[in-house]
Amino acid sequence: VAPEPYSPRVLLVGCGNVGRKVVEILSAEHHRFPGLARLRPTWVGVFTRSRGALVRPAGLDPADILRCLPAGGGVPDGHPNRTEMTVTDAVRDLEYDVLVELSALSIEGRGEPAVSWINAALARGGHVVTANKGPAAYAYAELAAAARRAGVRFLFESAVMDGAPVFSLARHGLAGCRVTGISGILNSTTNFVLQRLEEGGRLAAAVAEAQAAGFAEADPRHDLEGWDAAAKTAVLANVLLDGRVTPPEVARTGITGITDADIRRARERGGRLKLVCRARRTESGVTACVAPEEVPLGDPFARVNGSGSILRLETDLMGPLLITQENPTLYDTAYGVLNDLLSLAEPV
Ligand SMILES: NC(=O)c1ccc[n+]([C@@H]2O[C@H](COP(=O)([O-])OP(=O)(O)OC[C@H]3O[C@@H](n4cnc5c(N)ncnc54)[C@H](OP(=O)(O)O)[C@@H]3O)[C@@H](O)[C@H]2O)c1
Repeated sequence: VAPEPYSPRVLLVGCGNVGRKVVEILSAEHHRFPGLARLRPTWVGVFTRSRGALVRPAGLDPADILRCLPAGGGVPDGHPNRTEMTVTDAVRDLEYDVLVELSALSIEGRGEPAVSWINAALARGGHVVTANKGPAAYAYAELAAAARRAGVRFLFESAVMDGAPVFSLARHGLAGCRVTGISGILNSTTNFVLQRLEEGGRLAAAVAEAQAAGFAEADPRHDLEGWDAAAKTAVLANVLLDGRVTPPEVARTGITGITDADIRRARERGGRLKLVCRARRTESGVTACVAPEEVPLGDPFARVNGSGSILRLETDLMGPLLITQENPTLYDTAYGVLNDLLSLAEPV
């Protein structure tokens, strides 16, 4: 029996790499993914920061969204659905069932303005799906409580490990288990750069290569100084360990201080340097850190190459469990968003 179609009205904030791929998978590429057949959203609005916005309460044509907002392109003047509305007004005033929030992480802004948009959407009874780490890293407890009060969901599967099932695994597959600690390699850029340094490459060239491949930030300091990893560690600490940890509270050492001699010494001792994220419950709360560590070659962490990642979950009843991901692409990130959207079709 074919499942019932699920057709939420979606307000999309952020139409960059991930936003475009989500729209594309659900339109031009929809026929390739039969598992997504029931997901038929109505796009009531699409917003960017600098390239314009479109609103049509009866639903925008996805092909038109992609035509108006290609990489680097903007909504043409005179387009019948062009709007000068702000995102804040749209979140407050438009009619929608789900806010899909795909704007950029703001470390300096403590997750804003996304945290306020999400709060406003939840307060109005809208579900929220985001791939942005900022909201759960800076305000998870507050946003989860707002979602509970409104009887809706706040979901963010793609915020850590690009759509690999981490949070849904904890919610469903590990129901009844208490996660006691996590560790992982969670930042693609630093893992890729460390591998290139081991191969004799230079930092600047490795970063340029990661940017060209599309997984490094335009400003790579957030990756190299460990901020992206710290934000992911904070999300995991807050969601899986009931912590109240923000990214600046994660003890953080990036990879900018690593020298060729450090890499060589690790190799001579039979290890590899990896940027490792850790968080665990203690008697006084949750501690979290990100730092380069020498990992023995036989350890699964040492086998994570390129832009791959790994997460180890320690629980009281099960495990330890390891989730690994090899060289994720934009499809993985978009899939996390789509999986979150599909899960909204089930009762809260
Ligand atoms: N790319 C990945 O593989 C990946 C993986 C996991 C998680 N994520 C997360 O997913 C989110 C989206 O990533 P992305 O690669 O699609 O980023 P992106 O290409 O930089 O796109 C971000 C989009 O958000 C819009 N935006 C940013 N600030 C805004 C604001 N204040 N108001 C309105 N719109 C705003 C941007 O507008 P403009 O177009 O005008 O700049 C752009 O359309 C990020 O939080 C990222 O960390 C990405």
